[in-house]
Amino acid sequence: MPSFDEIIAADHKVEPRDEMPEAYRHTLIRQIAQHAHSEIIGMQPEGTWITRAPTLKRKAILMAKVQDEAGHGLYLYSAVETLGVSRNELMERLHAGRQKYSSIFNYPTLTWGDIGAIGWLVDGAAITNQLMLARCSYGPYARAMVKICKEESFHQRQGFEIMLTLANGTAEQRAMAQDSLDRWWWPSLMMFGPHDAESTHSEQSTAWKIKRVSNDRLRQEFVDMTVPQAEFLGLTVPDPELRWNEQTNHYDTGPIDWDEFWAVVKGNGPLNRERIAHKVAVWEENAWVRAAAEAHAAKHMGARD
Ligand code: 3HC
Repeated sequence: MPSFDEIIAADHKVEPRDEMPEAYRHTLIRQIAQHAHSEIIGMQPEGTWITRAPTLKRKAILMAKVQDEAGHGLYLYSAVETLGVSRNELMERLHAGRQKYSSIFNYPTLTWGDIGAIGWLVDGAAITNQLMLARCSYGPYARAMVKICKEESFHQRQGFEIMLTLANGTAEQRAMAQDSLDRWWWPSLMMFGPHDAESTHSEQSTAWKIKRVSNDRLRQEFVDMTVPQAEFLGLTVPDPELRWNEQTNHYDTGPIDWDEFWAVVKGNGPLNRERIAHKVAVWEENAWVRAAAEAHAAKHMGARD
């Protein structure tokens, strides 16, 4: 049996039954749980627009997208369970504020334009990060990412298509699209986490090949990909310092408001309390579903014995 270090050095996958350092296991539990919680909490800002989608077709697309996010959460909770933590325990940690979820989902969706901006920018940022994670060293996480990335690219396209429709619509619709870009641009850049110099976990996670590309490099990749898309839409990225840099072949951007980022991460964003309160209420209301599923499973097991 190859050792953990040999598996990492050979660029093979670490599987649940392989021996692994406790710190590697803990890092994965922290990151994958945070990722799973993000998928589930992320259903709230979009879910609230299902009843208000402008057409039947838009409603069907949005419902499918929100259901996909639930599916992503389930794959990811399953991946964490392979590391020895139960789903109930993960829920308790989230509800008690002991585990995080992405900062982005603490912002409100005020208009239909925000549904376009989330698909285009938030799912776009998520894919940029997740394509890297599909190559991460932990097998169950990497494999979950492959399917998730395929679905995220549909999400990104549907968001861009909403923005395109609004941008080519009436003056009021164009203004709605611009307002959504104005409000979602900076929080989307914050999704990639603190600058590399401030990132607590990057060095170790890179050594373990959980992370393959740094927070800042992924953020830059996202900016370079997205600015031409904004230009195609005829919208203005809300960054007066945004410039194409001939020397580096990348866009230069203005400073990110890290005070805002840390306030949101620490629970003081626009909707942190509401998001968790809603999550806990739904968890409690649906306790009977879990109890019924467990009773059914126990009966089924009994019948097989
Ligand atoms: N929101 C909340 N917390 C964040 C954050 C963010 N956007 N970015 C960083 N942090 C936290 C980290 O969790 C860490 O806190 P901790 O020590 O208490 O856990 C602290 O800030 C320092 O950051 P690091 O750079 O050291 O943390 P990581 O090495 O874990 O890197 C990451 C951060 C790049 C977000 C990494 O965790 C990651 O790749 N996570 C998996 C992807 C993920 O969670 N995506 C959620 C996006 S949304 C989504 O997928 C839903 C889709 O439908 C749109």
